[in-house]
Amino acid sequence: MAELQEVQITEEKPLLPGQTPEAAKEAELAARILLDQGQTHSVETPYGSVTFTVYGTPKPKRPAILTYHDVGLNYKSCFQPLFQFEDMQEIIQNFVRVHVDAPGMEEGAPVFPLGYQYPSLDQLADMIPCVLQYLNFSTIIGVGVGAGAYILARYALNHPDTVEGLVLINIDPNAKGWMDWAAHKLTGLTSSIPEMILGHLFSQEELSGNSELIQKYRNIITHAPNLDNIELYWNSYNNRRDLNFERGGDITLRCPVMLVVGDQAPHEDAVVECNSKLDPTQTSFLKPGKLTEAFKYFLQGMGYMASSCMTRLSRSRTASLTSAASVDGNRSRSRTLSQSSESGTLSSGPPGHTMEVSC
Ligand code: BEZ
Repeated sequence: MAELQEVQITEEKPLLPGQTPEAAKEAELAARILLDQGQTHSVETPYGSVTFTVYGTPKPKRPAILTYHDVGLNYKSCFQPLFQFEDMQEIIQNFVRVHVDAPGMEEGAPVFPLGYQYPSLDQLADMIPCVLQYLNFSTIIGVGVGAGAYILARYALNHPDTVEGLVLINIDPNAKGWMDWAAHKLTGLTSSIPEMILGHLFSQEELSGNSELIQKYRNIITHAPNLDNIELYWNSYNNRRDLNFERGGDITLRCPVMLVVGDQAPHEDAVVECNSKLDPTQTSFLKPGKLTEAFKYFLQGMGYMASSCMTRLSRSRTASLTSAASVDGNRSRSRTLSQSSESGTLSSGPPGHTMEVSC
């Protein structure tokens, strides 16, 4: 019997009269994303398949905002509170958002078989080009938390020309030293995986306060049907290599970076150290009380937010903080927040909610 052969059928779409192939590609992408209000896709990569969810309508020549979540979470539990926050709407409506789920973290993900080799964080970063290729985006603004921040920083080191900006929340760019390993092993003797992950996500103070938020996340992680997968991502995080940033050296982030750390966050020292190793003219360092507003400044510094979109308060602050950021939305690589390191603290709110630019 003749063997069945797999035949690849490629749909040929005729160009409209006068349409360039580039315009046709853009139109096809726009059509694909127009249908994509929270549509989940999977693509195959050299390290297995990766799932991502797309929101928003593409605007010509704009990067996508690409997010990567932390351990114990998925894109929804990590980013929904931020992206559905009222003040964020005026920002995100200008961008397509591509929310990547680490393998096995997507809703309904089956548990990986025993012995499955979970990708390292470096390999997770190497999966991102397949996502961008699928969506036909050539550049991104990355927003990552914890392990996701590390993955996006690694991606930016490997593909600097495709990253226009990075918002890195609670990043720890260092591999675990032997002291950290000893502490990790000791904690592992008395704590379950969910408790260890909660200790990574929240400060001891927050955990002992046991607020509704903590109870919610404790419940999500403890009862996650894919807890075994979560443990694999956790192991990859704990086995991460050093990013080896060096200020003024070859290994550094070349795009504008907004480093964010929570008050008393478990990684506060690591983020402070990271800030000391990055280019001060490209890096802003702040605490999160005013994250949304800071994000607006950050995008405006890159020429992506017209000042008319900003609050009156934001506008007056920005006017005094921005040197060459355009107000009409034209792109420029000028910085907004880094200027404020000269003027010190930006705004004062309740204690612990000060948007602080330091180092
Ligand atoms: C978004 O609009 O980008 C979004 C919506 C729901 C969850 C997370 C993000």
